[in-house]
Amino acid sequence: MPIHLTDEAATQRLGRLLAGSVQTGDVIALDGPLGAGKTTLVRALVAELGGEPAEVSSPTFTLLNRYDARLPVVHVDAYRLQGPGALAGLGFDELAEDGIGIIEWAERVLAVLPTAHTWHIVLSHRADGREAQVAPPPGRSVPWLQSDRSS
Ligand SMILES: Nc1ncnc2c1ncn2[C@@H]1O[C@H](COP(=O)(O)OP(=O)(O)O)[C@@H](O)[C@H]1O
Ligand SMILES: [Mg+2]
Repeated sequence: MPIHLTDEAATQRLGRLLAGSVQTGDVIALDGPLGAGKTTLVRALVAELGGEPAEVSSPTFTLLNRYDARLPVVHVDAYRLQGPGALAGLGFDELAEDGIGIIEWAERVLAVLPTAHTWHIVLSHRADGREAQVAPPPGRSVPWLQSDRSS
């Protein structure tokens, strides 16, 4: 079930919910076109984890950013990587091990992500805001994603 994000505040709320549900060693595979709200989401997540939101930017030129927080966050842009193997070359696995790894344009490297610990989030444009498809790691119970109960 897609989550309708009616405005920027809704994207930020999703980032905070995610911050409350991620565990050490998790990877967030983030996909969606330019302007879909990827950086907005990461910024809210980092802020909720106690990091500095102003430090968050798309790691387009640096390839990899690190943010100090309660769970340190490693942020990668796969767009410029030569292929899945290049992710290991950046030391992503080791760096993300003690915190959270976030990968933008993740579809390029999905094959090498740790399935058991990977969230897949796809953001897209709607006429009225944005929408998010959120798939948690297999078997993970996420209360705010359960749409089969009325609240
Ligand atoms: N749910 C939303 N509805 C409308 N605008 C949004 C929403 N979420 C984010 N935005 C806005 O979209 C623009 C692009 O967001 P950004 O996070 O930079 O996208 P990306 O990193 O995917 O390119 C920003 O101006 C942001 O405020
Ligand atoms: Mg961005």
